[in-house]
Amino acid sequence: MVRVAIIGASGYTGAESIRIILRHSEARLTYLTALEAECGAVEDVFPQFKGRCSLQIEPLDFAKLADLADAALCCLPHKVSMGFVPKLLEAGLKVIDFSADYRLKDTSVYERFYQVKHTDADNLARAVFGLPELFRERIKGADLVANPGCFPTGALLAIVPLLKKGLVETDSIIVNAVTGASGAGKNPSEKFHFPNMNENLFAYGTGTHRHMPEMEQIAGEIAGSKVQILFQPHAGSFDRGILSTVYTQPRKNVDDEQLFGLFSDFYKDEPFVQMRKDAPAVKDVVGTNYCHIFVACIKGRIVSFSAIDNLVKGASGQAIQNMNIVFGLEETLGLK
Ligand SMILES: NC(=O)c1ccc[n+]([C@@H]2O[C@H](COP(=O)([O-])OP(=O)(O)OC[C@H]3O[C@@H](n4cnc5c(N)ncnc54)[C@H](OP(=O)(O)O)[C@@H]3O)[C@@H](O)[C@H]2O)c1
Repeated sequence: MVRVAIIGASGYTGAESIRIILRHSEARLTYLTALEAECGAVEDVFPQFKGRCSLQIEPLDFAKLADLADAALCCLPHKVSMGFVPKLLEAGLKVIDFSADYRLKDTSVYERFYQVKHTDADNLARAVFGLPELFRERIKGADLVANPGCFPTGALLAIVPLLKKGLVETDSIIVNAVTGASGAGKNPSEKFHFPNMNENLFAYGTGTHRHMPEMEQIAGEIAGSKVQILFQPHAGSFDRGILSTVYTQPRKNVDDEQLFGLFSDFYKDEPFVQMRKDAPAVKDVVGTNYCHIFVACIKGRIVSFSAIDNLVKGASGQAIQNMNIVFGLEETLGLK
């Protein structure tokens, strides 16, 4: 039985992680931590867990943590996370980090996009990017897994079969995606506040979104050459889910059937990727760890559509999929 601590348990991805671990047959929650002001009985902080979890959310005590847990799901914001992760590793835990702090291998890119100095280059060097469909072998037994961003998860799954086959131009990829409001976390901002969000749809992060270099890093690794991605996120008036539409320019003629065959073959052993014969919707995947994909050739372009739940395949579900792989458990435990 893997003993799991959740660091930053009082946030959205913390709650989603609690929900999943509560139904996991080979992992159990042993320690939930948050800032002092957010602490209390789980059922008081999250009434949805009333009668299902008797733990307290407490301030983090590293000495206690080392005795209580084997794995840490670190659900903290970027910058904060790299202050905690070295100590979680020193305490002997396997760490799945939800933030961006261990995803971008080039610290100068991280510092440009996140506007903070990177303070943990040593652990960054050994962190493994936790997209199981691409890096399962590296994740096995890793001490530190950088759980991917929600937008990169949806966008990369929609194009990696094309990049792997060298089927598309790598200097003109466009990712257009829409997320629900929970992507911004639990603390409201003016843009994501209900009166602005409700019955609204808007673009944000134009030309500057932090997930753009993350997509380019992984896409470049898969393609074996530099990849340029123009990523434009939007936020829509729904709680959760991300719908991504990715436009690529094929290097040779392909038809819909060939594309479906290529993707189906690439993902044939993947427990959480489903190929579709029509465009997916966020409601098809919300509350699940699945990614639904549809791909078609339209007016000479390849257009790939993917739908995920940002809080599950885009965060906590993928983290627990990674935890299962790290500990050699059945990968789908808690997630099907
Ligand atoms: N939301 C998503 O869809 C999503 C998807 C993929 C990845 N992620 C990443 O997952 C991480 C958590 O996201 P989230 O949506 O769960 O955010 P959230 O709802 O804002 O929760 C963040 C948690 O971290 C705590 N925290 C903040 N500053 C802290 C500090 N200095 N020391 C200790 N705890 C601190 C927060 O406590 P307070 O409430 O007291 O501030 C809260 O419990 C972020 O790195 C985010 O980028 C999120």
